[in-house]
Amino acid sequence: MDSTYKSVWQSLALSPEGAAAYVSGYSDEEKMYATADDTLQILRETVGIHASDTVLEIGCGLGRVGRSLAPFVREWVGCDVSPEMLRIAARKLTGIENFRLVEVSGYDLSPIADASMDVVYCTVVFMHLDEWDRYTYCLEAKRVLRPGGRFYCDNANIASDEGWAMFEEVRKKFPANERPPQSSRCSSVPELETFLTRAGFIDCQVKTRPMWVYGWGKKPEKA
Ligand SMILES: C[S@@+](CC[C@H](N)C(=O)[O-])C[C@H]1O[C@@H](n2cnc3c(N)ncnc32)[C@H](O)[C@@H]1O
Repeated sequence: MDSTYKSVWQSLALSPEGAAAYVSGYSDEEKMYATADDTLQILRETVGIHASDTVLEIGCGLGRVGRSLAPFVREWVGCDVSPEMLRIAARKLTGIENFRLVEVSGYDLSPIADASMDVVYCTVVFMHLDEWDRYTYCLEAKRVLRPGGRFYCDNANIASDEGWAMFEEVRKKFPANERPPQSSRCSSVPELETFLTRAGFIDCQVKTRPMWVYGWGKKPEKA
């Protein structure tokens, strides 16, 4: 079986359950978009959102966050491994002028130019990636950020009761050789601290809230 990120997420996006079910657990798409306000609030509290910002989301799915965020920034760029997710996102963003959607390989941000973004964020995506690929996205985020640019990432926290329950659910539900490749995998505070600082971000902070661990940092002004 081809279990690359692209083939897995393209087939989930095209599945009869619908892309929204895999992006958010909601089969009602409008309910899914309503959850974006919480994400915007976290971004405001961590990396900040300014009218002059060009913002990149890694793994944007159906544009759940971008649809709410674009009106507050100069440009919102959503990238995703699945062209079908991007096709639906484009439809859902109809009427919004300041957005761009970009297909990526699943392993880097090569279509995005160096030092072209003010903010990069990645939400509800690390859980579907191997650790090495999470860290590569931290490095890529730093590459595409302008000096002083801000990066945010999050994942389910294995040290929380909710994260542990998710971990146990997958362990008990699937024998090892039948575990779906998109099964959610947790992170921890030390992991995100390590990735952010090893990638070269400064002023890093990592916090938790129920279920989640989230971290953010700044690209130094001088290399
Ligand atoms: C759970 S959804 C989250 C979507 C969006 N961030 C949100 O919060 O609504 C995960 C998204 O990540 C995308 N994805 C999975 N693996 C990826 C990878 N390696 N690179 C980029 N996007 C990826 C999937 O196609 C999907 O759209």
